[in-house]
Amino acid sequence: MNAPAFDQEAFKLATRNQWEKAARGWNDHTPQIRAWLRTATDAMLDMAVIRPGARVLDVAAGAGDQTLGIAERVGPHGAVLATDLSAAILEFAQANALRAGHRNVETRVADGESLQVDEGSFDAVVCRLGLMFFPDPLRGLREMHRALKPGGFVCTMVFSRPEANPCVTILMSTALKHAGLPPRDPYQPGGLLSLGRPGLIDELFRNAGFKDVATTKIDAPFRLPSTQAYLDFIRTSASPVQQILGKLDAAAAGAAWAEIEERLDAFETASGWEGPNELLLTAARL
Ligand SMILES: C[S@@+](CC[C@H](N)C(=O)[O-])C[C@H]1O[C@@H](n2cnc3c(N)ncnc32)[C@H](O)[C@@H]1O
Repeated sequence: MNAPAFDQEAFKLATRNQWEKAARGWNDHTPQIRAWLRTATDAMLDMAVIRPGARVLDVAAGAGDQTLGIAERVGPHGAVLATDLSAAILEFAQANALRAGHRNVETRVADGESLQVDEGSFDAVVCRLGLMFFPDPLRGLREMHRALKPGGFVCTMVFSRPEANPCVTILMSTALKHAGLPPRDPYQPGGLLSLGRPGLIDELFRNAGFKDVATTKIDAPFRLPSTQAYLDFIRTSASPVQQILGKLDAAAAGAAWAEIEERLDAFETASGWEGPNELLLTAARL
């Protein structure tokens, strides 16, 4: 029997609902996320050539941690438009920007595959850990291309291959096993590792019309006090594991979380917990 067709609109609706619910949890974890992604985020903003006075589009901006970094770099004569599928998470982004004293940040609810921005209106576009959730990332990249001014720069950050992101693999494989579901292709569209297949993201950027496409791998170990702290982050984020285990009864879900914890304990170190992650930063220009 053929696999059922992938319903992209239903997938996006589900994604939006998950992030509406996860908005507070993601925002509450901002200090940990900031520390985890600091080096990679600085590199992303450098590669997107974010400079004073620039007008920057931040796609799938979430609670706006990287938005604040952009607002700082572009200064009072520049501007940032932070867009996301979820209105709830953007409310945090707007509040965080105001609290940090940035008056140059605007937010707008928008599907990254249909941005609703004027053609050729931005000097730079960034997307931190968002593009892999798009069911059709090529459409998302074409939208970024359309939004850029001639000579504008883009940089995206996504997870790389499964072997370099073992905690993601452990979470998914253990959850699927306990739910009695077959293993999933880690590269299936919309999944956390969907753009990690070597060479794929460069090809998508080129197909979207970008020039000078280059991808850099960057290690981003997630350092937390304990395995429990990582599980707390996973439980309050919109992880697909939540969706899988949420359908089980309490005892079955408890058994799954216990095995996940046991397997993740392998990453405990003398000074806490350290989950390896490898990210891909892809930079290009119009
Ligand atoms: C892992 S969070 C990253 C948020 C933020 N960029 C950060 O790094 O903290 C992923 C974000 O992608 C957004 N997202 C997922 N699919 C999207 C889509 N099709 N269009 C726009 N945003 C999307 C979610 O709502 C969520 O805010």
